[in-house]
Amino acid sequence: TVADLKGMKQGQLRLSAITTAKYVIPRLLGPFCQRYPGVEVSLNVMNHEGLLDRLNQNLDDLYILSNPPESKDISCQPFLENPLVVLAPTNHPLAKEKNIPIERLNGEPFIMREPGSGTRSAVQELFDQKEVDVRVRLDLGSNEAIKQAIAGGFGISVLSRHTLALEGSMKRLTILDVQHFPIRRYWHVIYPAGKQLSVVAQTFFDYLLNEGRKVAQETADFKITD
Ligand code: PGA
Repeated sequence: TVADLKGMKQGQLRLSAITTAKYVIPRLLGPFCQRYPGVEVSLNVMNHEGLLDRLNQNLDDLYILSNPPESKDISCQPFLENPLVVLAPTNHPLAKEKNIPIERLNGEPFIMREPGSGTRSAVQELFDQKEVDVRVRLDLGSNEAIKQAIAGGFGISVLSRHTLALEGSMKRLTILDVQHFPIRRYWHVIYPAGKQLSVVAQTFFDYLLNEGRKVAQETADFKITD
């Protein structure tokens, strides 16, 4: 019966997630832990590079990241859309324009995530490909700090759209409608192939891929299309 199953789901769940997933994963943990009160969760939040380190050391049950390593030794499931958008202060001169050519970003004061960040690699890849040269004024290791810096007039940036979750009435930031954006990315749930997941980890994995998406939609300020 369901009650028996509930009783079985006890123990530790160790998760690592990239910084942008922290806007969603804690929200998903709420309903999960209510259903299985015997489960104790540890969630490590770090950038892409840090997460790969933990994976290599086999420290956690499940890892949530955008850019899964290309390896046969990984089991990998796409989980949720993670679009990257151009964020600017609401009073930015381009704020009202539509379909802005990406070259217009040349020379724009820009706030970049720190080296080792997956967001940063994705942004740099697109800018390199399109030969766009923004003026990086600041390197910042935190999505929240970058949002504050944008609001403070330091420049524009490219961040996961999920970083706007729960932003509500704080309307100091806007998304610029720049060509080639959003950069389409996905979060994936991965774990070492062949590793036997604990009952708890397997249950959370299934929960993420089924109900997790619905809960995530409630937090996101945009329509998740997958
Ligand atoms: P980051 O990862 O926190 O390393 O920028 C986010 C991502 O790759 O989507």
